[in-house]
Amino acid sequence: MDPIEKKLWEAAKKARENSYSPYSKYRVGAAILCGKRIYSGTNVENSSYGATICAERSAVAQAISEGEKSIDAVLVVTEKPASPCGICRQVLSEFCQDDTPVWLSSGSEIADLYRFDELHPRGFKPSDLG
Ligand code: THU
Repeated sequence: MDPIEKKLWEAAKKARENSYSPYSKYRVGAAILCGKRIYSGTNVENSSYGATICAERSAVAQAISEGEKSIDAVLVVTEKPASPCGICRQVLSEFCQDDTPVWLSSGSEIADLYRFDELHPRGFKPSDLG
């Protein structure tokens, strides 16, 4: 396994341990690579369910808060490997490139690797604003 992939996986698994998901009991961890730095996040649920933030957006917020502007890789850990939701794909699209790798994993295996544009084809982009 690529050492960066392994580091992302470890970071996402660690963040997932802190998942605050008392309502769904569905724990998610995400890690993103920006240059040489790794940022992670987990899902943070809320008793007002719609106020929940997903792990991927939580990781993006961490990275952008530290001054990052571009995402080079994404890795998500769930019970069974699953794709980021539509809102997270849209948020990621602001900072990912078409060929940004996205790994989908569980705690015991990294199951799938996609290019970002496979997961989010023809999305609305900053350039669409003109
Ligand atoms: N969730 C994520 O963290 N990422 C996704 O892409 C899909 C869903 C979270 C939100 C909620 O806490 C739980 O998973 C069930 O939907």
